[in-house]
Amino acid sequence: MATLKIGLVGCGGRGRGAVVNALRNTATKDVKVTALADAFPDSIDGTVNLLASQFPNQTAIPREQMFSGLDCCEKLLKTDVDVVLLCEPPGFRPRHFVAAVESGKHIFSEKPVAVDAPGVRMFLEANQKAKKNKQIVLVGHHLRYEPKHYESIKMVHDGAIGDIIYAKIFFDTNDIWTRARRPEQTEMEYQVKNWYHFTWLSGDHIVEQHVHDIDVMNWFMKDQHPVEANGMGGRTHHGNQYGEINDYNAVEFVYGEREIRGFSDCRQINGCWNSFSEHVYGTKGCLNMDGHGDVVLRVNGKEPKVWKRTYDGHQYEMDALFDAVVNGKELNFGDIAANSTMTAILGRMAAYSGKVVKWEQAFRSDLDTFPKVLAWDAEPGPKADADGIYPCAKQGVTKAF
Ligand SMILES: NC(=O)c1ccc[n+]([C@@H]2O[C@H](COP(=O)([O-])OP(=O)(O)OC[C@H]3O[C@@H](n4cnc5c(N)ncnc54)[C@H](O)[C@@H]3O)[C@@H](O)[C@H]2O)c1
Repeated sequence: MATLKIGLVGCGGRGRGAVVNALRNTATKDVKVTALADAFPDSIDGTVNLLASQFPNQTAIPREQMFSGLDCCEKLLKTDVDVVLLCEPPGFRPRHFVAAVESGKHIFSEKPVAVDAPGVRMFLEANQKAKKNKQIVLVGHHLRYEPKHYESIKMVHDGAIGDIIYAKIFFDTNDIWTRARRPEQTEMEYQVKNWYHFTWLSGDHIVEQHVHDIDVMNWFMKDQHPVEANGMGGRTHHGNQYGEINDYNAVEFVYGEREIRGFSDCRQINGCWNSFSEHVYGTKGCLNMDGHGDVVLRVNGKEPKVWKRTYDGHQYEMDALFDAVVNGKELNFGDIAANSTMTAILGRMAAYSGKVVKWEQAFRSDLDTFPKVLAWDAEPGPKADADGIYPCAKQGVTKAF
């Protein structure tokens, strides 16, 4: 087999991590990074320096294969890379995914796969084509690749804790970063640099990061999606001069005919209790999973069974992707990931609106958050008022779906 060529879209923190995982994959050493794309050239320079110093023999990126600007992904897809890693802000992802499928490349896509319902539908339609073409699609839900998660959840599915009664999931963490506004920046540049603070780019914390736990909750429920959700949320600590997303959301999801409840909460406020964890309770016991730590299965009347976290799912998922590429295996995680992304979007709709939102209403929603025109001098959508304050969701008022 010829050398496998990798192209990276989005050369930030996770993009650099993903490309390193790809170069260290256990299926083949004959793999090189040959193209990079990022909206901003400085992120590309940093990534080239990192790769050239740590992986000099696996880095072969000619200057003409370093692309910047808002159309950088489409340009990279015209090169002869075999595998593309989509690690840009998720607001761009559905369109980049469609273009990647059209290009015929194998795809690693970070989560979430979209930030609104039109984006999820766009992703799902393109994924049908990817499946038909036997293009590999792996999405960065690394917990799916951690033995502590898949072994223990299999035991739950096999009845270890009896019938599921309810689940609880948390992504409670510290304040997020902000990147100071510079006088020469256009509004589009400011928002893309500060992408986490804008719903059209990140989907809000509940979609952007909490989707990891929401994916595990759906997995507890054998990958069925909830039928409805209700919730609340607000922005009490992040300054409204930086952006619009909530800094806390709390949602109740309802699953299936038995109306099993899944309780979710996510917060980004300093000085509070933090947790990145998933828990499921049954008639005979419970399973408590810490994303960064141990997993403990407690079955009534038995000694707890404990799994330690001694491995990193980010590496395992990339090993699985390259194993599939090298050995011609079929691998497509797109539909399951889209289900989890849509569940998180349903939760945001409930938290922003304060209303009960049905899955069908949410999934069919035409609320498209993507800018009408994508250009550095175009209007992104969210607008600060005369005092520089961005409006944020108001429960009972905001049309969130
Ligand atoms: N699976 C995980 O554990 C994990 C961990 C961290 C981040 N992520 C995901 O990775 C993605 C990126 O997060 P990050 O933490 O690396 O953010 P980041 O801000 O560090 O990096 C994002 C990069 O994308 C670039 N970018 C912006 N718009 C772009 C565009 N249109 N085309 C190409 N590049 C563009 C930015 O300039 C930046 O360099 C997110 O989807 C996030 O959810 C996943």
